[in-house]
Amino acid sequence: MEPNTVADDLVLRRDEGAVALLTLNRPKALNALNQPLLTRLAERLREVGTDDAIRAVVLTGSGEKAFVAGADIAEMADYDAATAQHFALVGQSVFNHIASLGKPVIAAVNGFALGGGLELVLACDFAIASQKAKFGLPEVTLGVIPGFGGTQRLARLIGRHNALRWILTGDVHGADDALRLGLVTQLVEPEQLQSVALEVAQRVASRGPVALAAARQVVDQGWDLPLADGLRKEAAAFGRLFKSADQKEGMAAFLQKRPAKFLGK
Ligand code: CAA
Repeated sequence: MEPNTVADDLVLRRDEGAVALLTLNRPKALNALNQPLLTRLAERLREVGTDDAIRAVVLTGSGEKAFVAGADIAEMADYDAATAQHFALVGQSVFNHIASLGKPVIAAVNGFALGGGLELVLACDFAIASQKAKFGLPEVTLGVIPGFGGTQRLARLIGRHNALRWILTGDVHGADDALRLGLVTQLVEPEQLQSVALEVAQRVASRGPVALAAARQVVDQGWDLPLADGLRKEAAAFGRLFKSADQKEGMAAFLQKRPAKFLGK
């Protein structure tokens, strides 16, 4: 369903060259993830995923305060067990779509990234944050646990003890902690965030698209595998890339001392 006006659109899209900027747009509720917002995000991901002109995506939140302050507590408060489980599965499946999009998705964390908001950051390829951003999984303060991947992805990313400390205390952490633990790769002044994220995304978007998709796929596949199995996946993907036009073009361009013009094939 197409919202009536841009202001009503729960996920705004603005294209800058080959980069799509998606802005989660419920600022009055600090971009809390309710069902309609998750549905719209899924639509937008499908849209940019199938748009050949788009080669990288930046995800951010609207307003000054929040990236995403979590799943919508008002919506969840009266859920029964089955509805809550379904809601978790819906959120997980939308976030899983980011992994299988075949295009890098960079989070530009402009404020609170709590609960489902932090879980959304974890599902992205990497994140750049404002120095004022705040991170945490406060679900235990509400009597629940993270449901959109936080118990799984956070431990894999920052280690079991760090993850359990965050999950069990429910504490909110500053951007410096997020940088130190590797949750985000760069901190920037709040007013620079969007331009820096778009500039990094443009650089990513200029690289070979087939290679970009393979890189994320192999990193994710190897995440849970013994090293030897992961290395085999890497070698197989490396080999497959030599069937692509992008490999021919990328290496020819280097040898001819000119910029590559990738077709994404
Ligand atoms: N769900 C629904 N509404 C939310 C929300 C959320 N997660 N977070 C903020 N809001 C709403 C507030 O209710 C408030 O609405 P009203 O103006 O109508 O009262 C509005 O956004 C502004 O928020 P505050 O007035 O609370 O703003 P603040 O600056 O005082 O505090 C905050 C900011 C610390 C982020 C605080 O809003 C907060 O603690 N939010 C909840 C964070 C949270 O617990 N997130 C986890 C949700 S559970 C989850 O995500 C489960 C999962 O893994 C799937």
